[in-house]
Amino acid sequence: MKFNCELKRVVDDSYDIEIGRELTDTLVCDLKAGLCGKASRFAVVTDSNVEGLYALKIMQALAEAGLKADMITIPAGEKSKTREMKAFVEDKMLSLGCRRDCAVIAVGGGVVTDLAGFVAGTFGRGVPFVNYATTLLSAADASVGGKTAVDTPLATNLIGMFNQPKKVYIDIDTWKTLPKREISSGLAETVKHGCLGDTKLFEYLEKNIERVFDCDKEVCEYISKHNCEVKYGVVMQDERESGLREILNLGHTVGRAVETVSDYKLLHGEAVSIGLIAQARLGLSLGFMTGEQVERVEKLLKRAHLPVEIPEYIDKEELLDKLYTDKKVRNGRLRFVLEDGIGKMKCFADNNYGLEITREQIADIISKM
Ligand SMILES: NC(=O)c1ccc[n+]([C@@H]2O[C@H](COP(=O)([O-])OP(=O)(O)OC[C@H]3O[C@@H](n4cnc5c(N)ncnc54)[C@H](O)[C@@H]3O)[C@@H](O)[C@H]2O)c1
Repeated sequence: MKFNCELKRVVDDSYDIEIGRELTDTLVCDLKAGLCGKASRFAVVTDSNVEGLYALKIMQALAEAGLKADMITIPAGEKSKTREMKAFVEDKMLSLGCRRDCAVIAVGGGVVTDLAGFVAGTFGRGVPFVNYATTLLSAADASVGGKTAVDTPLATNLIGMFNQPKKVYIDIDTWKTLPKREISSGLAETVKHGCLGDTKLFEYLEKNIERVFDCDKEVCEYISKHNCEVKYGVVMQDERESGLREILNLGHTVGRAVETVSDYKLLHGEAVSIGLIAQARLGLSLGFMTGEQVERVEKLLKRAHLPVEIPEYIDKEELLDKLYTDKKVRNGRLRFVLEDGIGKMKCFADNNYGLEITREQIADIISKM
Protein backbone atom coordinates (compact mmCIF):
# COMPACT_ATOMS: atom_id res chain seq x y z
CA MET A 1 0.00 0.00 0.00
CA LYS A 2 1.26 3.47 -0.77
CA PHE A 3 -0.12 6.89 0.20
CA ASN A 4 0.90 10.16 -1.26
CA CYS A 5 1.13 12.74 1.47
CA GLU A 6 0.57 15.92 -0.48
CA LEU A 7 2.10 18.82 1.41
CA LYS A 8 2.74 21.69 -0.91
CA ARG A 9 3.87 24.85 0.79
CA VAL A 10 3.44 28.45 -0.23
CA VAL A 11 5.56 30.56 2.09
CA ASP A 12 5.78 34.31 2.43
CA ASP A 13 8.87 35.04 4.48
CA SER A 14 9.06 38.71 3.48
CA TYR A 15 10.16 41.09 6.19
CA ASP A 16 11.33 44.63 6.79
CA ILE A 17 14.83 45.87 7.49
CA GLU A 18 14.74 49.17 9.34
CA ILE A 19 17.87 51.31 9.26
CA GLY A 20 17.96 54.11 11.81
CA ARG A 21 19.17 55.34 15.15
CA GLU A 22 18.04 54.29 18.59
CA LEU A 23 15.46 51.76 17.46
CA THR A 24 14.54 50.32 20.88
CA ASP A 25 11.16 52.07 20.98
CA THR A 26 10.40 50.98 17.41
CA LEU A 27 11.20 47.38 18.33
CA VAL A 28 8.94 47.48 21.38
CA CYS A 29 6.13 49.14 19.39
CA ASP A 30 6.40 46.46 16.69
CA LEU A 31 6.30 43.64 19.24
CA LYS A 32 3.26 45.17 20.94
CA ALA A 33 1.61 45.42 17.53
CA GLY A 34 2.08 41.65 17.00
CA LEU A 35 5.26 41.43 14.93
CA CYS A 36 5.92 37.98 16.38
CA GLY A 37 2.36 36.73 16.10
CA LYS A 38 1.00 35.09 19.23
CA ALA A 39 4.29 35.14 21.14
CA SER A 40 3.54 36.16 24.69
CA ARG A 41 7.08 36.17 26.05
CA PHE A 42 10.52 36.93 24.70
CA ALA A 43 14.02 35.53 25.12
CA VAL A 44 16.54 38.32 24.56
CA VAL A 45 19.79 36.64 23.49
CA THR A 46 22.89 38.81 23.69
CA ASP A 47 26.61 38.64 24.52
CA SER A 48 28.67 39.80 27.47
CA ASN A 49 29.77 43.04 25.76
CA VAL A 50 26.42 44.04 24.33
CA GLU A 51 24.44 43.18 27.46
CA GLY A 52 25.36 46.34 29.38
CA LEU A 53 25.58 48.55 26.30
CA TYR A 54 22.21 47.83 24.66
CA ALA A 55 20.41 44.65 25.76
CA LEU A 56 19.62 45.84 29.30
CA LYS A 57 18.03 48.95 27.87
CA ILE A 58 15.89 46.84 25.57
CA MET A 59 14.92 44.63 28.53
CA GLN A 60 13.87 47.71 30.47
CA ALA A 61 11.80 49.06 27.57
CA LEU A 62 10.09 45.68 27.15
CA ALA A 63 9.26 45.58 30.87
CA GLU A 64 7.90 49.14 30.80
CA ALA A 65 5.67 48.13 27.90
CA GLY A 66 4.36 45.20 29.93
CA LEU A 67 6.06 42.56 27.76
CA LYS A 68 7.50 39.54 29.56
CA ALA A 69 11.15 38.98 28.68
CA ASP A 70 14.20 37.15 29.98
CA MET A 71 17.77 37.84 28.99
CA ILE A 72 20.27 35.11 28.10
CA THR A 73 23.88 36.21 27.78
CA ILE A 74 26.65 34.27 26.08
CA PRO A 75 30.37 35.10 26.32
CA ALA A 76 31.38 37.56 23.57
CA GLY A 77 33.33 36.24 20.61
CA GLU A 78 33.37 33.71 17.77
CA LYS A 79 34.23 30.86 20.15
CA SER A 80 30.66 31.08 21.47
CA LYS A 81 29.17 30.14 18.10
CA THR A 82 29.05 26.43 18.85
CA ARG A 83 26.57 23.59 19.15
CA GLU A 84 27.33 23.55 22.88
CA MET A 85 26.39 27.22 23.26
CA LYS A 86 23.22 26.60 21.26
CA ALA A 87 22.33 23.87 23.76
CA PHE A 88 23.13 26.24 26.64
CA VAL A 89 20.72 28.89 25.29
CA GLU A 90 18.03 26.26 24.65
CA ASP A 91 18.36 24.76 28.13
CA LYS A 92 18.20 28.21 29.65
CA MET A 93 15.06 29.01 27.67
CA LEU A 94 13.47 25.73 28.76
CA SER A 95 14.35 26.30 32.42
CA LEU A 96 12.86 29.81 32.23
CA GLY A 97 9.60 28.24 31.05
CA CYS A 98 9.77 29.25 27.39
CA ARG A 99 7.78 26.95 25.14
CA ARG A 100 6.18 27.49 21.74
CA ASP A 101 4.64 30.70 23.05
CA CYS A 102 7.96 32.56 22.92
CA ALA A 103 9.95 34.56 20.39
CA VAL A 104 13.69 35.24 20.31
CA ILE A 105 15.19 38.72 20.12
CA ALA A 106 18.85 38.62 19.06
CA VAL A 107 20.72 41.73 20.22
CA GLY A 108 24.32 41.88 19.07
CA GLY A 109 26.71 41.15 16.23
CA GLY A 110 26.86 38.28 13.80
CA VAL A 111 27.77 35.70 16.44
CA VAL A 112 24.60 36.44 18.38
CA THR A 113 22.30 36.75 15.34
CA ASP A 114 23.67 33.55 13.72
CA LEU A 115 23.35 31.56 16.96
CA ALA A 116 20.02 32.98 18.15
CA GLY A 117 18.45 32.61 14.69
CA PHE A 118 19.47 28.94 14.67
CA VAL A 119 18.09 28.45 18.20
CA ALA A 120 14.80 30.03 17.12
CA GLY A 121 14.64 27.73 14.09
CA THR A 122 14.70 24.54 16.14
CA PHE A 123 13.29 25.57 19.55
CA GLY A 124 9.84 23.99 19.80
CA ARG A 125 10.28 23.15 16.09
CA GLY A 126 10.53 26.84 15.31
CA VAL A 127 9.58 30.10 17.01
CA PRO A 128 9.76 33.63 15.53
CA PHE A 129 12.83 35.80 15.95
CA VAL A 130 14.03 39.32 15.22
CA ASN A 131 17.56 40.68 14.83
CA TYR A 132 18.71 43.90 16.49
CA ALA A 133 22.11 44.33 14.84
CA THR A 134 24.78 46.19 16.82
CA THR A 135 27.87 45.74 14.61
CA LEU A 136 28.66 47.05 11.15
CA LEU A 137 29.38 43.48 10.08
CA SER A 138 25.98 42.20 11.18
CA ALA A 139 24.30 45.25 9.63
CA ALA A 140 26.19 44.70 6.38
CA ASP A 141 25.74 40.98 6.17
CA ALA A 142 25.08 38.59 9.06
CA SER A 143 21.72 39.84 10.32
CA VAL A 144 20.08 39.93 6.88
CA GLY A 145 19.51 37.07 4.48
CA GLY A 146 18.32 34.32 6.83
CA LYS A 147 21.46 32.21 7.09
CA THR A 148 21.92 30.96 10.64
CA ALA A 149 24.63 28.61 11.83
CA VAL A 150 27.19 27.49 14.36
CA ASP A 151 30.85 26.61 13.86
CA THR A 152 32.41 23.19 14.45
CA PRO A 153 36.07 22.40 15.15
CA LEU A 154 36.41 21.45 11.44
CA ALA A 155 35.20 24.76 9.99
CA THR A 156 32.88 27.72 10.38
CA ASN A 157 29.13 27.73 9.69
CA LEU A 158 28.87 24.08 8.67
CA ILE A 159 25.80 23.33 10.80
CA GLY A 160 22.82 25.60 10.42
CA MET A 161 19.63 26.42 8.60
CA PHE A 162 17.95 29.02 6.48
CA ASN A 163 15.62 30.84 8.84
CA GLN A 164 14.28 34.29 8.10
CA PRO A 165 13.71 36.81 10.91
CA LYS A 166 10.44 38.69 11.33
CA LYS A 167 12.33 41.97 11.12
CA VAL A 168 15.87 43.33 11.20
CA TYR A 169 16.77 46.52 13.07
CA ILE A 170 20.00 48.21 12.05
CA ASP A 171 20.81 50.74 14.75
CA ILE A 172 23.67 52.83 13.36
CA ASP A 173 24.10 54.62 16.69
CA THR A 174 25.43 51.39 18.20
CA TRP A 175 28.51 51.57 15.95
CA LYS A 176 29.76 54.47 18.10
CA THR A 177 30.82 52.03 20.82
CA LEU A 178 32.42 49.54 18.42
CA PRO A 179 36.20 49.12 18.69
CA LYS A 180 37.90 50.40 15.50
CA ARG A 181 39.02 46.85 14.68
CA GLU A 182 35.35 45.76 14.55
CA ILE A 183 34.50 48.67 12.23
CA SER A 184 37.29 47.47 9.94
CA SER A 185 35.93 43.94 10.09
CA GLY A 186 32.48 45.16 8.98
CA LEU A 187 34.04 47.21 6.22
CA ALA A 188 35.46 44.02 4.68
CA GLU A 189 31.93 42.75 3.94
CA THR A 190 31.03 46.24 2.69
CA VAL A 191 33.99 46.30 0.28
CA LYS A 192 32.94 42.76 -0.75
CA HIS A 193 29.48 44.06 -1.69
CA GLY A 194 31.05 46.83 -3.78
CA CYS A 195 33.29 44.28 -5.51
CA LEU A 196 30.54 41.82 -6.32
CA GLY A 197 27.67 44.00 -7.37
CA ASP A 198 27.87 47.72 -6.79
CA THR A 199 30.53 49.78 -8.56
CA LYS A 200 29.00 52.97 -7.13
CA LEU A 201 29.38 51.66 -3.58
CA PHE A 202 33.01 50.75 -4.31
CA GLU A 203 33.73 54.22 -5.68
CA TYR A 204 31.86 55.85 -2.78
CA LEU A 205 34.07 53.89 -0.37
CA GLU A 206 37.15 55.02 -2.28
CA LYS A 207 36.08 58.59 -1.55
CA ASN A 208 34.73 58.19 1.97
CA ILE A 209 36.00 55.09 3.75
CA GLU A 210 37.81 57.01 6.53
CA ARG A 211 34.55 58.75 7.49
CA VAL A 212 33.03 55.42 8.58
CA PHE A 213 35.48 55.38 11.50
CA ASP A 214 34.05 58.73 12.63
CA CYS A 215 30.54 57.24 12.42
CA ASP A 216 29.65 60.00 9.95
CA LYS A 217 25.85 59.96 9.67
CA GLU A 218 25.56 60.37 5.91
CA VAL A 219 28.27 57.83 5.10
CA CYS A 220 26.99 55.21 7.56
CA GLU A 221 23.45 55.52 6.20
CA TYR A 222 24.70 55.29 2.61
CA ILE A 223 26.72 52.12 3.19
CA SER A 224 23.94 50.50 5.26
CA LYS A 225 21.43 51.09 2.48
CA HIS A 226 23.75 49.86 -0.26
CA ASN A 227 24.84 46.80 1.73
CA CYS A 228 21.20 45.78 2.16
CA GLU A 229 20.38 46.46 -1.48
CA VAL A 230 23.26 44.33 -2.77
CA LYS A 231 22.59 41.48 -0.36
CA TYR A 232 18.85 41.50 -0.90
CA GLY A 233 19.13 41.85 -4.64
CA VAL A 234 20.80 38.45 -4.53
CA VAL A 235 18.84 36.75 -1.72
CA MET A 236 15.47 37.63 -3.26
CA GLN A 237 16.50 35.75 -6.42
CA ASP A 238 18.08 32.73 -4.74
CA GLU A 239 17.24 32.40 -1.04
CA ARG A 240 18.55 28.82 -0.71
CA GLU A 241 21.84 29.26 -2.57
CA SER A 242 21.09 27.06 -5.55
CA GLY A 243 23.22 29.26 -7.81
CA LEU A 244 23.41 33.04 -7.73
CA ARG A 245 23.62 33.34 -3.91
CA GLU A 246 27.04 31.72 -4.04
CA ILE A 247 28.41 35.07 -5.20
CA LEU A 248 27.88 36.42 -1.67
CA ASN A 249 30.71 34.06 -0.71
CA LEU A 250 33.19 36.23 -2.58
CA GLY A 251 36.47 36.04 -0.66
CA HIS A 252 35.06 33.48 1.75
CA THR A 253 36.73 30.33 0.36
CA VAL A 254 40.15 31.44 1.57
CA GLY A 255 38.53 33.72 4.18
CA ARG A 256 36.72 31.03 6.16
CA ALA A 257 39.71 28.69 5.98
CA VAL A 258 42.17 31.32 7.23
CA GLU A 259 39.72 32.32 9.98
CA THR A 260 39.57 28.73 11.27
CA VAL A 261 43.30 28.03 10.90
CA SER A 262 44.07 31.26 12.80
CA ASP A 263 42.00 29.76 15.65
CA TYR A 264 39.86 32.92 15.42
CA LYS A 265 42.75 35.29 16.15
CA LEU A 266 41.62 36.88 12.89
CA LEU A 267 38.18 38.47 13.02
CA HIS A 268 35.70 37.34 10.37
CA GLY A 269 36.12 40.50 8.28
CA GLU A 270 39.91 40.39 8.57
CA ALA A 271 39.86 36.86 7.18
CA VAL A 272 37.46 37.93 4.42
CA SER A 273 39.85 40.75 3.51
CA ILE A 274 42.66 38.23 2.96
CA GLY A 275 40.23 36.07 0.99
CA LEU A 276 39.20 39.01 -1.21
CA ILE A 277 42.83 39.58 -2.15
CA ALA A 278 43.37 35.88 -2.84
CA GLN A 279 40.37 35.74 -5.21
CA ALA A 280 41.38 39.02 -6.90
CA ARG A 281 44.91 37.73 -7.55
CA LEU A 282 43.47 34.42 -8.76
CA GLY A 283 41.17 36.42 -11.04
CA LEU A 284 44.19 38.35 -12.33
CA SER A 285 45.99 35.09 -13.16
CA LEU A 286 42.89 33.92 -15.05
CA GLY A 287 42.43 37.20 -16.92
CA PHE A 288 39.20 38.28 -15.13
CA MET A 289 40.82 41.24 -13.34
CA THR A 290 43.44 43.74 -14.39
CA GLY A 291 46.45 44.56 -12.24
CA GLU A 292 45.04 48.04 -11.69
CA GLN A 293 41.72 46.64 -10.43
CA VAL A 294 43.49 44.30 -8.00
CA GLU A 295 45.50 47.25 -6.72
CA ARG A 296 42.32 49.29 -6.15
CA VAL A 297 40.79 46.49 -4.05
CA GLU A 298 44.01 46.10 -2.08
CA LYS A 299 44.38 49.83 -1.49
CA LEU A 300 40.81 50.16 -0.25
CA LEU A 301 41.16 47.25 2.18
CA LYS A 302 44.41 48.72 3.50
CA ARG A 303 42.72 52.08 4.06
CA ALA A 304 40.12 50.19 6.12
CA HIS A 305 43.06 48.90 8.25
CA LEU A 306 42.45 45.36 7.07
CA PRO A 307 45.14 42.72 6.48
CA VAL A 308 45.96 41.84 2.87
CA GLU A 309 48.66 39.27 3.60
CA ILE A 310 48.44 35.92 5.35
CA PRO A 311 49.89 36.25 8.87
CA GLU A 312 53.19 34.46 9.39
CA TYR A 313 51.82 32.21 12.12
CA ILE A 314 49.47 30.52 9.59
CA ASP A 315 50.70 27.17 8.25
CA LYS A 316 50.04 27.44 4.52
CA GLU A 317 49.78 23.67 3.96
CA GLU A 318 47.18 23.46 6.74
CA LEU A 319 45.39 26.39 5.11
CA LEU A 320 45.34 24.61 1.73
CA ASP A 321 43.89 21.47 3.34
CA LYS A 322 41.28 23.56 5.13
CA LEU A 323 40.05 25.02 1.83
CA TYR A 324 38.53 21.62 1.10
CA THR A 325 36.02 22.00 3.97
CA ASP A 326 34.35 24.82 2.03
CA LYS A 327 30.64 24.41 1.28
CA LYS A 328 31.21 25.09 -2.41
CA VAL A 329 33.49 22.05 -2.82
CA ARG A 330 31.91 19.58 -5.27
CA ASN A 331 33.16 16.02 -5.79
CA GLY A 332 36.24 16.91 -3.76
CA ARG A 333 37.10 19.80 -6.10
CA LEU A 334 37.57 23.39 -5.00
CA ARG A 335 35.25 25.98 -6.53
CA PHE A 336 35.81 29.74 -6.35
CA VAL A 337 33.45 32.61 -7.11
CA LEU A 338 35.39 35.39 -8.80
CA GLU A 339 35.04 39.06 -9.67
CA ASP A 340 34.69 40.15 -13.25
CA GLY A 341 36.47 43.46 -12.84
CA ILE A 342 34.98 45.63 -10.06
CA GLY A 343 31.25 45.55 -9.30
CA LYS A 344 30.39 42.42 -11.26
CA MET A 345 30.76 38.67 -10.89
CA LYS A 346 31.97 36.14 -13.40
CA CYS A 347 29.23 33.74 -14.54
CA PHE A 348 30.61 30.48 -15.95
CA ALA A 349 27.42 28.83 -17.19
CA ASP A 350 23.70 29.29 -16.72
CA ASN A 351 23.25 30.17 -13.02
CA ASN A 352 26.73 28.79 -12.27
CA TYR A 353 29.13 31.20 -10.65
CA GLY A 354 31.67 28.71 -9.29
CA LEU A 355 34.85 27.85 -11.15
CA GLU A 356 36.87 24.72 -10.36
CA ILE A 357 40.34 25.63 -9.21
CA THR A 358 43.16 23.13 -8.65
CA ARG A 359 45.18 22.94 -5.46
CA GLU A 360 48.24 23.98 -7.46
CA GLN A 361 46.53 27.12 -8.82
CA ILE A 362 45.49 28.41 -5.40
CA ALA A 363 48.71 27.18 -3.74
CA ASP A 364 50.61 29.44 -6.13
CA ILE A 365 48.55 32.48 -5.08
CA ILE A 366 48.74 31.65 -1.38
CA SER A 367 52.50 31.07 -1.45
CA LYS A 368 52.95 34.72 -2.57
CA MET A 369 50.71 36.22 0.11
N1 LIG B 1 24.58 34.73 8.53
C1 LIG B 1 25.29 35.32 7.61
O1 LIG B 1 24.86 35.48 6.46
C2 LIG B 1 26.65 35.85 7.95
C3 LIG B 1 27.31 36.72 7.10
C4 LIG B 1 28.54 37.24 7.48
C5 LIG B 1 29.09 36.90 8.69
N2 LIG B 1 28.43 36.04 9.51
C6 LIG B 1 28.97 35.68 10.83
O2 LIG B 1 29.02 36.85 11.64
C7 LIG B 1 30.01 36.66 12.64
C8 LIG B 1 30.84 37.91 12.78
O3 LIG B 1 29.99 38.98 13.16
P1 LIG B 1 30.51 40.18 14.06
O4 LIG B 1 31.74 40.72 13.49
O5 LIG B 1 29.35 41.08 14.28
O6 LIG B 1 30.96 39.41 15.38
P2 LIG B 1 30.51 39.47 16.91
O7 LIG B 1 29.08 39.19 17.06
O8 LIG B 1 31.46 38.58 17.61
O9 LIG B 1 30.78 40.99 17.32
C9 LIG B 1 32.08 41.47 17.32
C10 LIG B 1 32.50 41.99 18.72
O10 LIG B 1 31.89 43.27 18.93
C11 LIG B 1 31.19 43.27 20.18
N3 LIG B 1 30.07 44.18 19.99
C12 LIG B 1 28.93 43.95 19.31
N4 LIG B 1 28.23 45.09 19.19
C13 LIG B 1 28.93 46.05 19.83
C14 LIG B 1 28.75 47.44 20.00
N5 LIG B 1 27.73 48.09 19.46
N6 LIG B 1 29.68 48.13 20.71
C15 LIG B 1 30.77 47.50 21.21
N7 LIG B 1 31.02 46.18 21.04
C16 LIG B 1 30.11 45.48 20.35
C17 LIG B 1 30.85 41.84 20.42
O11 LIG B 1 30.64 41.59 21.77
C18 LIG B 1 32.08 41.13 19.88
O12 LIG B 1 33.10 41.15 20.85
C19 LIG B 1 30.81 35.45 12.24
O13 LIG B 1 30.44 34.37 13.04
C20 LIG B 1 30.38 35.20 10.81
O14 LIG B 1 30.46 33.85 10.44
C21 LIG B 1 27.23 35.53 9.17
